[in-house]
Amino acid sequence: MKHFLSTSDWTKSELQEILDFATTLKNDPFQPLLKNKSIAMLFFNPSSRTRTSFEVGINELSGTAIILQPGKDAWPIEFEDNIVMDGSAEEHVKEVAKVLASYCDCIAIRAFPVFKDWQRDKTDLVINSFAKYSSVPVVNMETIEHPCQELAHILTLQEHFGDLRGKNYLLTWTYHPKPLNTAVANSSLMIASKFGMNVTMLCPSKEYYLDEKYIQAATDNCKKEGSEFNISHNIEKAYSEKDIVYAKSWGCLSSYGQPEIQMASNNTHKNFIVDSHKMSLTKSGVFSHCLPLRRNIKATDEVMDSDYCLAIKEAANRKHVQKSLLTKIL
Ligand code: CP
Repeated sequence: MKHFLSTSDWTKSELQEILDFATTLKNDPFQPLLKNKSIAMLFFNPSSRTRTSFEVGINELSGTAIILQPGKDAWPIEFEDNIVMDGSAEEHVKEVAKVLASYCDCIAIRAFPVFKDWQRDKTDLVINSFAKYSSVPVVNMETIEHPCQELAHILTLQEHFGDLRGKNYLLTWTYHPKPLNTAVANSSLMIASKFGMNVTMLCPSKEYYLDEKYIQAATDNCKKEGSEFNISHNIEKAYSEKDIVYAKSWGCLSSYGQPEIQMASNNTHKNFIVDSHKMSLTKSGVFSHCLPLRRNIKATDEVMDSDYCLAIKEAANRKHVQKSLLTKIL
C-alpha cells in the first residue's frame, strides 16, 4: 500500500507512468477500473475543481465517491493525542481513519494550514494522522502541498512542450488581498525541478521565501537533473527568457499568523501582477495558474484570455491525472 501525500515520495518515472496513463484515460475516459471501489473524500476546506474533478473522474471509472465535510455534514474530528476531548470535536482521527478504511478503499483529504504557527502547520498533522491510522491509501487533495495539481501542471506542460528538461520556468509570487496557503508554490518548486527545468522563484524580498524544505528540494532536484535553481527579486530579469510563468500568491512565513503585518507588506507589492508587458519579456512563454484566480489582481484579463494561458487546460487535466493516480494506487 502506498499513500499519495507528496510527490517527493514518488520517483520521476513513477510519476511519469501516472501521467502517461492519464493521457490514455483522456482518450478513452470510461473504463470500469474502479468498479466496486469506494473513495471517501474529506474536505476540511472549500473546493470547486478538486471536488468536481475527483467525483466525476471516479464516476467515469465506475467507482463510488463519498464526500464528507467534517464539522459541517460530518462530525468534527480531534487530531491531538492524549487530549481530554471537551472541545467541539466529537471523535478522534484514530477512530475516523479506521472506520472509513473499513468501508472504503481510499481516503482523500483536503486540510489547509490554520495560519497561526508555521512550525505547527508544517507538520501537516491532519493528513499525516490519517496516513498513520488508515489501512487504505490516503491521497492529498491539498494540505501544505498540492501533489494532484502538480501532476496536472506537468501533464499540461508536457502536452505543450514535450520534454521539459532545460525549459526555463518561473514561479512568481503575486499580490492577493489576503495571505494564502503556500501549498501550490511549494509544489511548483518541487515538481518543476524534478522534471529537469531551470527554476526561478520570483518574490518581493527574503520575507517571502518559501520554507527551507522546499527551497532545498528544488536545489537538490536541479543539481540531480543538471539544471539551475535561483531566487530573484527583480521582475524584469526574472521574466526574461522564460518558457513558462506559473503564478501564485502566498503568505509570508516571516509574519505567519499575523495577517495585518502580512497585508501591510503585500499592499506594497501589487506590481507583481502578471500582465502582457511582463509576458512580452519571456521567450514567447506560456502562463498558468492553479485557479481560483482573482482577475486584475493576480493576472490581467489580457493574460487570462490569451492563447498562451494554459490555466483551463491545467484544471481540465486534474480529472485525468487523478483517475490515473487512483487506478495506480488501488
Ligand atoms: N486548484 C484547486 O485545487 O482548485 P479548488 O480549490 O477549486 O479545488
